[in-house]
Amino acid sequence: MSNRFAVILAAGQGTRMKSKLYKVLHPVCGKPMVQHVVDQVNKLNTQEIVTIIGHGAEMVKAELGDASHYALQEQQLGTAHAVRQAQEILEGKQGITLVVCGDTPLIRSETMESLFKQHEESKAKATILTAKIEDPTGYGRIIRNENGHVEKIVEHKDASEAERQINEINTGTYCFDNIALFEALKNVSNDNVQGEYYLPDVIEILKKQGEVVAAYQTPDFEETLGVNDRVALAEAERIMRHRINEIHMRNGVTIIDPANTYIEDQVTIGQDTVIFPGTSIKGNSVIGSECQIGPNSEIDQCLVGNETVIRQSAAFASSIGSRVNIGPFAHIRPDSAIHDDVKIGNFVEIKKAVFGNGSKASHLSYIGDAEVGDNVNIGCGSITVNYDGKNKFLTKIEDDVFIGCNSNLVAPVTIGKGAYVAAGSTITKNVPGNALSIARAQQVNKDNYVDKLNLKK
Ligand code: UD1
Ligand code: MG
Repeated sequence: MSNRFAVILAAGQGTRMKSKLYKVLHPVCGKPMVQHVVDQVNKLNTQEIVTIIGHGAEMVKAELGDASHYALQEQQLGTAHAVRQAQEILEGKQGITLVVCGDTPLIRSETMESLFKQHEESKAKATILTAKIEDPTGYGRIIRNENGHVEKIVEHKDASEAERQINEINTGTYCFDNIALFEALKNVSNDNVQGEYYLPDVIEILKKQGEVVAAYQTPDFEETLGVNDRVALAEAERIMRHRINEIHMRNGVTIIDPANTYIEDQVTIGQDTVIFPGTSIKGNSVIGSECQIGPNSEIDQCLVGNETVIRQSAAFASSIGSRVNIGPFAHIRPDSAIHDDVKIGNFVEIKKAVFGNGSKASHLSYIGDAEVGDNVNIGCGSITVNYDGKNKFLTKIEDDVFIGCNSNLVAPVTIGKGAYVAAGSTITKNVPGNALSIARAQQVNKDNYVDKLNLKK
């Protein structure tokens, strides 16, 4: 097998996105477009990957890390000019260079592998990955001669009316003989409508030199989508979403309505888990098996055990154990650790709190900056008063504690093991284990007082 190199073009601003964020950093299913491309290229057994950076260079580098070498394109003079920036790293090396755009997030390694194979077999100096699409507007068109051989690529903006009728497009992915590529790049001019150095012009240059130029038409036109604006971004998201959901379904996850289920790329989900509509699962979340998630839940960066139910709730950067029942309408905020067999019911907010095995907060509570032991029952409307306007304080509730309804636990405070807090208490001092603590005004009943006041009609 020949040496393989890859150049990923990611220096453009992406003007058509109309965004502060550089185009290739726009996420598709939670992962920047260019990262999708790099991840696929990484599967290809290449000696060197060079990413061309320019706009947002530092951000792109920070995102991709050492998965790639980098070459800086200081001015964005076109895709041919971009590839030339890899010269220092690649020029003169024997082998095949794959060029792929950072704005084609759906491209798969299998397709690029086929492109390499086709290129090697046809002994061409360049092979273009092409696709036939219904609406080719904006793409470069593949111009073939009467024998069906590729002659050149014409950019949409430079194309004649007749050329614009052609619906075979340049996907922006190519294989080149590395030496021939860098030679030909020297001859690319910017004499075109956009005044840019076009990489596709290399095709015509090689052809005119009598070299073999080939095309590999992929049947999967969807994966060649180039994202230049937000409309295409939404389309890429839709296709990627479908792809991700299909993988989970094939792995034994039930997704009731795949079109309305948003699972990001790095998420893992166990068998026999059911995902109900309107649910987003994001980041590196790991969901166990036999869970029920949704409808309308958002889970970001969470570890969830098995047989857990999360209904119409939101959970962020937390761990949630097995057989836990959450929601509807609960909010699990970051740094919480909810252990097994816990119940977090409706309108309960948990923040930076440990919740021990078998403990319950079934209704209308706020538990923040707290350590809750095992088998604790937190009654309706109870809260940890964790904040004095300046600092946050810890509430400790030891095992087997019962907190009566509508209690305020003013932190820092500890409720000892097995203690019982009477409903309506405002607890400001530690409660010893097994004690009953009542901290509320005593009730006074004044007999017939209403009659005395003469308030009744
Ligand atoms: C390009 C192709 C077009 C093809 C389409 C496929 C050219 C001239 N046209 O058009 O034939 O059908 O992709 O999606 O190549 N970039 C740089 N430096 C630059 C210019 C661009 O790094 O100076 C990068 C961009 O960040 C982007 C990629 O190259 O990731 C493609 O550039 P873009 O402006 O999106 O080209 P298209 O108009 O889509
Ligand atoms: Mg593009």
